[in-house]
Amino acid sequence: MTEPDEHRAAAALLRWYAEMGVDEATAPSPTDLFEWRAGPPPAPKPTPRAAKPASAPAPETVAADEAIEEAKRIAAACDSFEALEQAVNGFEGCALKQGAKNTVFTDGVPGADLLVIGEAPGRDEDRVGKPFVGRAGQLLDRMLAAIGRSREKDTLISNVIYWRPPGNRTPTQIETAICRPFVDRLIEITGPKAILIAGGAPLQALLGVTGIMRARGIWREVETAGGARVAALPSFHPAFLLRQPASKRLAWADLKSLQARLRQD
Ligand code: URA
Repeated sequence: MTEPDEHRAAAALLRWYAEMGVDEATAPSPTDLFEWRAGPPPAPKPTPRAAKPASAPAPETVAADEAIEEAKRIAAACDSFEALEQAVNGFEGCALKQGAKNTVFTDGVPGADLLVIGEAPGRDEDRVGKPFVGRAGQLLDRMLAAIGRSREKDTLISNVIYWRPPGNRTPTQIETAICRPFVDRLIEITGPKAILIAGGAPLQALLGVTGIMRARGIWREVETAGGARVAALPSFHPAFLLRQPASKRLAWADLKSLQARLRQD
């Protein structure tokens, strides 16, 4: 192949990747999945290391524990929404931040009686620096409008993770635990009357419950580290509803339940 041909072929390959939804590299070199027919390649043998005392925790565990403690300390010292926003923006304890373009904290009205909590920023949110601005966010806006609400007027929107996980993978328990003190403090400072939990990941992060299919539509209570208790309704994530429009009927029932709760004294 001549050099221009190679460039054209490389550009065509990149275009094809983009059309297939591949938008970032997850490993330094490609893996030929066709070679996996007999099962994935064996994991590389660990290099022998000097024996450690059985009780010594792994360095990653120590680092995670330290990050969680630091997040707790910083979050507890915040006594206003602005201070908390600044603290989250300046926090370096979550490794996801290294691969993210922006910190994505909240959008909407701090102090509103409704707080929506989703999973984590995606590509659009990472680019813009605000939660729920992509297609799922547009559906969320339409869902809120259906019960007379909006992020401009009377709703605050946030996530349980503030930095985009690479390739939009599900956040790990450690990443969730590191962000949790800030989520708790946001709830304590803004004092919503109700929380709409959007999807299975925030359901697990906030309530320790798995299975959004069974949990949706049933009111529960989120309890923060500082002892605040707020009524919370799990429902489907708007991205799920984009894939499964038949489930919008159940989501609509949840929205009406939310509206009724917010209208109660
Ligand atoms: N999905 C989420 O859970 N949060 C966002 O901010 C965007 C998409």
